[in-house]
Amino acid sequence: MSATRPATAFIGVGTMMEAMIDKAIAAGWPREKLLPTHRRADRRAELAQRYGLPVGDDNLAAATSAELVVVGVRPQEMPGLLQELAPAFRPSHVLLSIAAGLTVEWLQARLPAGTTVIRVTPPPTAWVSAGVTLFSASEGVTADQRATVEALVEGTCERIEWVPDALMEPITGVALGLTPYTCMVLKTLIETGVEQGCDEAFIRRMVADGLRATAKLLSEGGFQPEQVIEMVATRQGLTWSALHTMEVRGVFAGIRAGARAMTGRSYELRGETVPDDHMGFLR
Ligand SMILES: NC(=O)c1ccc[n+]([C@@H]2O[C@H](COP(=O)([O-])OP(=O)(O)OC[C@H]3O[C@@H](n4cnc5c(N)ncnc54)[C@H](OP(=O)(O)O)[C@@H]3O)[C@@H](O)[C@H]2O)c1
Repeated sequence: MSATRPATAFIGVGTMMEAMIDKAIAAGWPREKLLPTHRRADRRAELAQRYGLPVGDDNLAAATSAELVVVGVRPQEMPGLLQELAPAFRPSHVLLSIAAGLTVEWLQARLPAGTTVIRVTPPPTAWVSAGVTLFSASEGVTADQRATVEALVEGTCERIEWVPDALMEPITGVALGLTPYTCMVLKTLIETGVEQGCDEAFIRRMVADGLRATAKLLSEGGFQPEQVIEMVATRQGLTWSALHTMEVRGVFAGIRAGARAMTGRSYELRGETVPDDHMGFLR
């Protein structure tokens, strides 16, 4: 890759990749360097209208014209797509994959030998430029290549972390999965309030306020989760009874199994055997 902002193909622009394009444009990435494609005409028209960009239907042509090729299809569709794109790859090309669960090694095995592969996991909060974007990369990735992909995603997050590829799923399963897990907890709490006679709009606001206050306690107050629990859950008190009931009902064991299940599912998506301790999602 020769330039800080090289011609960049975006193959299969779905929800997550659209956030990347949106934020790249906002960060000043020149529109003429962005080469998005989509297989559906209605989606091409929608993206072209929204971002003022030509959107192609020829994945191979876009990848050939680019130096950085971003792939954002679902993991199950990736084998077919990589087979289609492989002839485009020259030694200067870099593949940037946002597909969950597909390791650098798995991706490299489907491209010409020696292709530089970088994986990126943007946070589910990318649309509001919040959270942490994770990267991992094949051996030999250069400082320039790192700087380029960092520049591409800088608008999608507050911080970037480079992590060993083997830890991408464990970290995602805990720290990025936290957003949907928390939303599930909030939804359950709102429903519980309504069941007990609370006005829905009122209890939604209360729950949102409680979440914001908790985040402040942890991020600005410097408290650790264990300290907050210790502070508020007096033994035999009301909060203690709530947490004790959840523990007895297996809520926390379920969360542990669920967070590991993300890693387990990634083995499955790669066609590998799922280790026993990551089988939570199958039981
Ligand atoms: N959503 C998240 O928060 C998140 C976070 C981190 C990583 N990811 C990863 O990001 C990837 C995309 O997720 P998403 O939520 O953005 O999914 P999505 O909205 O379904 O996007 C995938 C897009 O790829 C298109 N596509 C599929 N095969 C294609 C092909 N051969 N050529 C061109 N386009 C093709 C699909 O078109 P159709 O609409 O016609 O099917 C769809 O628009 C996944 O691999 C996921 O693991 C997602």
